Amino acid sequence: MKTVSVGIIGGGLMGKEVASAFGRWFALNDYPLKVELKAVCDINEDTLNWYKQIPSIGLLTTDYKKLLDAPDLDVIYVALPHHLHQQYYLDVIASGKDLFAEKPFGIDLEAANAIKEKIDQSSCFVRCSSEMPFLPGGQRVIKEILSGRLGKIIEVRAGFCHSSDMDPLKPINWKRQSEFCGEIGVMGDLGMHVMHIPLRMGWVPKRVYAQLQKIVTSRPDGKGGWSECDTWNNAHLSSTLSIEDEDVPMLLEMKRLAPGETNSWYIEVLGTEGGVRYNTKDTKALWTFKREKEQVWQRLDLGFQVAFPTITGGIFEPGFADCFMQMLAAYFAERDGFLGERFGCVTPEEAVLSHKLFAAALKSHVTKTVIEIP
Ligand SMILES: NC(=O)c1ccc[n+]([C@@H]2O[C@H](COP(=O)([O-])OP(=O)(O)OC[C@H]3O[C@@H](n4cnc5c(N)ncnc54)[C@H](O)[C@@H]3O)[C@@H](O)[C@H]2O)c1
Repeated sequence: MKTVSVGIIGGGLMGKEVASAFGRWFALNDYPLKVELKAVCDINEDTLNWYKQIPSIGLLTTDYKKLLDAPDLDVIYVALPHHLHQQYYLDVIASGKDLFAEKPFGIDLEAANAIKEKIDQSSCFVRCSSEMPFLPGGQRVIKEILSGRLGKIIEVRAGFCHSSDMDPLKPINWKRQSEFCGEIGVMGDLGMHVMHIPLRMGWVPKRVYAQLQKIVTSRPDGKGGWSECDTWNNAHLSSTLSIEDEDVPMLLEMKRLAPGETNSWYIEVLGTEGGVRYNTKDTKALWTFKREKEQVWQRLDLGFQVAFPTITGGIFEPGFADCFMQMLAAYFAERDGFLGERFGCVTPEEAVLSHKLFAAALKSHVTKTVIEIP
């Protein structure tokens, strides 16, 4: 069986998720490719030590150029703080290897455009991470939308809500500092996940009114002092879509301070004939609406219906590790030309479109006006 060799640059939270998905790749039934993690780069030696337990890895280094020069690596996954995306993504593309990038795909719109331009001049296969739509619930929402059963679309709502930042004593990290995370703040952290399905459905916002909030503005620095926390914590975006030449509202929220929400990703699409609603807060529940004499929302308990079947039983519950693996399976399938009709990872074009929305949202917040998105 063909084996694809992968290297990781940035072995933190997400690097480990990717390593763990590759570690149980055999759980995919009849998947025609083997994927092996061969090399990891991180500037933190302790982080590298964690990877010593993975037998397929032959190279652990603090110098990412060693991965770019390694002739046996086919794909590089980069999971670094946002201020490093542009340089590292461009370097991977220049090395001729394929790239699996992390969101937000550059610290801002300018960086995303520069990365996209370089990809267009290359033959590299590049996609960006966004795993939630690969859960059975996300997949069913997409199916409902594409079925036409919803009729004329009335409105779209989508969001991603965290509450871990509700704790004012949680120490600061790079994700809470604009210099490393970006001016777009929480939109860069959570926005790509929120926009993936809408953009794939062709729902590109044409204007936006944004309300951004900085709620907790300083945090313990972990060394006995306090540091400024200058990113946007929460974002409410009221945007407008054009669907069949009519304006349709799309309300988006991305929040780090949403009381009670652990990692709630949701999408709801309402139409004149039907509706669909899914929230990871209730991972198994798919809600659908069909217009009849009486107005009834119906709950269906989903099982393990995934695009790339695994050994997991059809009635078992899916989780984060499962949708992450499904996303990676979609990446390698698309790279190798067998994705077929299945849902794919975020494209560079979609990443740039999401940045256009976030850049317009920043402007809207400052001017307190509705901003047209070019
Ligand atoms: N898809 C998702 O659900 C998801 C979730 C969280 C984060 N992310 C994204 O993943 C990326 C990384 O986030 P994370 O949560 O893994 O961060 P993290 O801080 O846990 O990990 C980043 C790693 O990069 C290393 N690093 C920093 N500078 C480096 C350099 N110059 N060279 C090599 N290594 C370096 C750090 O030592 C750290 O181990 C970000 O783009 C973030 O937005 C995605």
